[in-house]
Amino acid sequence: MKMPMPKASVYDREYDYLPWGDLMQKVLNLIIEHAPPNGLVADLMCGPGWLISNLADKREDLTIHGVDINHEYVRYANQRLKDKGGNVFVLRDDIHKWIPCRRYDVVVCTGGLHYLKISGQSNLVNKIAQKIVISEGLVIFADPAISAYQDEKTRRKRVTELGAAYICEAIDRNAPKDVLEATVDILKTDLLGFKFKRKLFAMKDMYEHHFGSVEAIKVWPEYKTACGDYIFVCQKTQGL
Ligand SMILES: C[S@@+](CC[C@H](N)C(=O)[O-])C[C@H]1O[C@@H](n2cnc3c(N)ncnc32)[C@H](O)[C@@H]1O
Repeated sequence: MKMPMPKASVYDREYDYLPWGDLMQKVLNLIIEHAPPNGLVADLMCGPGWLISNLADKREDLTIHGVDINHEYVRYANQRLKDKGGNVFVLRDDIHKWIPCRRYDVVVCTGGLHYLKISGQSNLVNKIAQKIVISEGLVIFADPAISAYQDEKTRRKRVTELGAAYICEAIDRNAPKDVLEATVDILKTDLLGFKFKRKLFAMKDMYEHHFGSVEAIKVWPEYKTACGDYIFVCQKTQGL
């Protein structure tokens, strides 16, 4: 069975009905505020390009490159970016194989790491720290975390806890059927082991291994639980 991916247009509309949209708005604001003038920004595993497009509108001085493996998403992203100038575009590549031409001031990777096996996640974080970001640069990761688990049976229960919470949130926000279907697919693909969501502490450990400063920001939900959507603001040296 192939992993189901929502169409690019449906993926984009998920931001209106899921807490991930609120998280992306916060990531956008962080980059708008902290990217240096005329800086170089990389959005790794960028999907259909919402972040790049909105960033290009707010910070016309930036050069922004996206990378994603999905042909449809890359076509959709470049179509929406065609009026933003030659400095803003998305490349289609496997993130493990992509070789950057130069280092970036800001690197962002949202909702992407959990698509990679655990060893692939560590390799990519290492590659970003060693080869992609400048030494005093800013790296922003964002991913969902699941509650602690001991074995495959409890992992399945933990992804069901998170997936069910997403579905309830989408219902509360009056999501249309195609977005609800995509939200159900998040739970289905996690349950069947297509994706590799992790516990909060495992993610923090991984980032702290490569960056001197790591700030975890919980964006959703407000109630007390370890699972939910997190932003990790990382720098090799001092914090923001
Ligand atoms: C959940 S989407 C995240 C999109 C966007 N960054 C966001 O936060 O909404 C994950 C993306 O990772 C991409 N992806 C998965 N494996 C990849 C790989 N090996 N190389 C590049 N992109 C990959 C998928 O095509 C998909 O667009």
